[in-house]
Amino acid sequence: MTDHVDTARRSSLVSPTGTGAAVRIEGLLKTFGAVAAVDHIDLDIKAGEFFTLLGPSGCGKTTTLRMIGGLERPDAGKVTVGDDVVVSVSDRRFVQPDKRDMGMVFQSYALWPHMTVFENVAYPLKMRGLRKADIRDRVEETLRLVGLEGFSSRPSPLLSGGQQQRVALARALVYSPRVLLLDEPLSNLDAKLRVTMRQELKDLQTRVDVTMIYVTHDQTEALSLSDRIAIMNSGRVEQVGTPQQIYLHPATAFAQDFLGQTISIDGRVDGPGVVKVAGDVENLIHVAMDPAKIAVGDEVTVAIRPEQMLTHDTMPSGAESRNIIRLVVEEATFVGDHYEYKGQVGDALAVIPLPSNKRYAVGETVYLEFPESAAAVWPKGAEVADHID
Ligand SMILES: Nc1ncnc2c1ncn2[C@@H]1O[C@H](COP(=O)(O)OP(=O)(O)OP(=O)(O)O)[C@@H](O)[C@H]1O
Ligand SMILES: [Mg+2]
Repeated sequence: MTDHVDTARRSSLVSPTGTGAAVRIEGLLKTFGAVAAVDHIDLDIKAGEFFTLLGPSGCGKTTTLRMIGGLERPDAGKVTVGDDVVVSVSDRRFVQPDKRDMGMVFQSYALWPHMTVFENVAYPLKMRGLRKADIRDRVEETLRLVGLEGFSSRPSPLLSGGQQQRVALARALVYSPRVLLLDEPLSNLDAKLRVTMRQELKDLQTRVDVTMIYVTHDQTEALSLSDRIAIMNSGRVEQVGTPQQIYLHPATAFAQDFLGQTISIDGRVDGPGVVKVAGDVENLIHVAMDPAKIAVGDEVTVAIRPEQMLTHDTMPSGAESRNIIRLVVEEATFVGDHYEYKGQVGDALAVIPLPSNKRYAVGETVYLEFPESAAAVWPKGAEVADHID
């Protein structure tokens, strides 16, 4: 319980860092009418970890976060923070949000517009009954931490979006919570500021000992910030792992498609570890496959990470034993640092990003080679992610 909060730590004048706590989520369920917004999820988040819930719109990220924070009551399940059970449906236990020792930052900064920066950040400490001098020291310290020293007396509406978000962060951190919950905190910022703030968040994590649970549908944010990511889909967790694990070894077709770019090519399993590209008698793809899941003769989709592709202008020799696909360019789109080529691969239309140092014209054939490790194979029709961004 949070009632046992370490008051010495609360009123100490040392830097405003608490001690991150582990968060365990067991069998968490939330239904709205007939829809299970969060469908019996289990997660083990380590103390001090930067943990991200990543998934498309409506997959249940916010609902999960709100149940952890106590803003939403689950229909079943349990959440434990450190040694404290903050909610357990079967034990009829529910700790109020302000007693959970958690900070929260939302997409809308939700600052109080009639207050200065100082008053906004000081508010949670006032509510907790700290002495005036302690409040002043702690607020100044926290503002320094988020790079807002000297802004104390500024009315909060007179701040830029990035500065307002920093105030919201300071307000959430000022009482040294054990856990910081962040729901798409950067999505209201313009693209450039988002990158800056992302870096600042990462720096902040190294300076503050707090467990961060971060919600986003932005894969770049998730990959660059997180120690571990949980990929969510329709209220369920598809995979949990480090950014590298999930990106390089996606456990499901959905995870593969949602995270990073993939090129999907349909085919038929021709022999163990070999797929014949649909509509192209010559094209074979060598790819590792699990015989328990995929058998010879099965219709499959091969998913390839495009960044590992090499281009050739003519069919290289020994092509039978190498992974080479042929793309006939139908449309080339310049998108800054690369081109996107749309065209026929086998009997399917594919969009393939390639570096802009070489330009292919419409009608040209490009031979694309990739290592076996850049490809994965799924049964055809396995659920894949809707692309966003
Ligand atoms: N108060 C509510 N009443 C009814 N349905 C709700 C409520 N809150 C959420 N839902 C539904 O629950 C599902 C999950 O919503 P949630 O807000 O958790 O998704 P999300 O992953 O945060 O999406 P986004 O990326 O768009 O913020 C959605 O289908 C949503 O419509
Ligand atoms: Mg949401």
